[in-house]
Amino acid sequence: ARMSNRKEAVRVVVTGAAGQISYSLLPLIANGAMFGPDQDVILHLLEVEFVLPALQGVVMELEDGSYPLLKDIVATSDANVAFKDADFAILVGAFPRKDGMERADLLSKNAGIFKVQGQALDKVAKKSVKVLVVGNPANTNCLLAQHFAPSIPKENFTALTRLDHNRAKGQVAKKLGVSVRDVHNVIIWGNHSSTQYPDTTVGHVVVNGEKKSIRDAVNDNKYLEGDFISTVQKRGAAIIAARKFSSAMSAANAIVDHIRDWVLGTPEGEYVSMAVPSDGSYDIPEGVIYSYPVTCKNGKYTIVQGLTVSEFSRGKMVATYEELADEKKAALEQLQ
Ligand code: NAD
Ligand code: LMR
Repeated sequence: ARMSNRKEAVRVVVTGAAGQISYSLLPLIANGAMFGPDQDVILHLLEVEFVLPALQGVVMELEDGSYPLLKDIVATSDANVAFKDADFAILVGAFPRKDGMERADLLSKNAGIFKVQGQALDKVAKKSVKVLVVGNPANTNCLLAQHFAPSIPKENFTALTRLDHNRAKGQVAKKLGVSVRDVHNVIIWGNHSSTQYPDTTVGHVVVNGEKKSIRDAVNDNKYLEGDFISTVQKRGAAIIAARKFSSAMSAANAIVDHIRDWVLGTPEGEYVSMAVPSDGSYDIPEGVIYSYPVTCKNGKYTIVQGLTVSEFSRGKMVATYEELADEKKAALEQLQ
C-alpha cells in the first residue's frame, strides 16, 4: 500500500549528458533537489555518438550513487529515443565556440542541433513537456526548438537566465554584506548574453526585519547603473577566463532553481527571471525568447505586469531585444 502512494516517475531528458554542466546537474536531479524528496525520476541521457563511452562512465557513477529516487536511466545518441514520453527536457548540449569561430558559424552548427531536437520533441515527447534550453546561444536555440515543435504549446519553451538572476543577487548581497536570502526581486531582462539588463529598480532587501529598496540600501546609483550591470553581464566571461572552462557548478544550480520553481512554485511575492516567449509585455514584440520577471504557481509561470520602466531601463531593454531579433534573423537564414 505504501508503494502505491508514490507519484509516477517523471522522465527527464538531459542533453550533453557527459559534459561539464551535466556532471554537476545529474546528481542534483537524482537526489531530489529538482522535484522534491517524494518524486521518482527516470533520466534520459542524450550525447553525440562518439561520446557514448564516456557517458557510460557517468551512468556507472549514477548507479553507484545509490539514489533512492532514481528509478531508471536511458543513455542514447538517438534523439527519438531520448525524448520519448519526456516530461522535462533540459537541453544543455550545444556546439561550443572554438577559437576563431564567427558568430554565424556557431549559429549554424547550433541551428542544426536544435532543429533535430525540436523535431524529436514534437514527434515523441509528451505534449505537456516543459523545455529548458541552456546551451548557447540559449534564447535563440530555444526559439529554434520551439519553431520545430509546433504541436507543443509555445509557452512550454524557456531558456536559462536564472544563473544571471542568481549572479545579480550575489553581487547585491556582497555589496551590502547581507545574505542572498535577504535580497529579493532583482530582474534580468532580455538575452543570456552581455546585452542582458540586470535591473535592481524594484528589488528590495530585508535586513533585521526591515524592508528597504535595493536603491536605498546600496545608496550608490552610479554603481547600480554602472559596475553592477557590467559585472553581471560579463560574469560568464570572467569565469571562463579564470577557470578556462565555462561555469558549470553554478549553471547546474541555476537549472535546478529554474525547473523547481516552475514546477513547485515561487514563494508569495518573489520574482525570478526566466527567458520565455515574448508576448508583448513591456512593449517587447512577440517572437523572441526574452527574459522577464515571473512568478510561478501550479506548474505555470506568469510574467509580472505593471512594473514602472524608467527611460534608462527602457533603453537597455530595447537594446537586448534588438540583439535577440538579429540572432533570430541570422539563425533562420542558416536554416534556408
Ligand atoms: P561541455 O562541452 O562540457 O558539454 C557539452 C556536451 O554536449 C558535450 O559532452 C557534447 O558532446 C554534448 N553535445 C554536443 N552536441 C550534442 C548534441 N547534438 N546532442 C547531445 N549532446 C551534444 O559544455 P558545458 O560546460 O556542459 O556547457 C554546455 C552549454 O551550456 C554550452 O553551450 C555553454 O555555453 C552553455 N552554458 C549556458 C549557461 C546559461 O546560463 N544559459 C551557463 C553556462 C553554460
Ligand atoms: C555563462 O553565463 O557562464 C556562460 O553562458 C558563458 C558562456 O559563454 O559559455
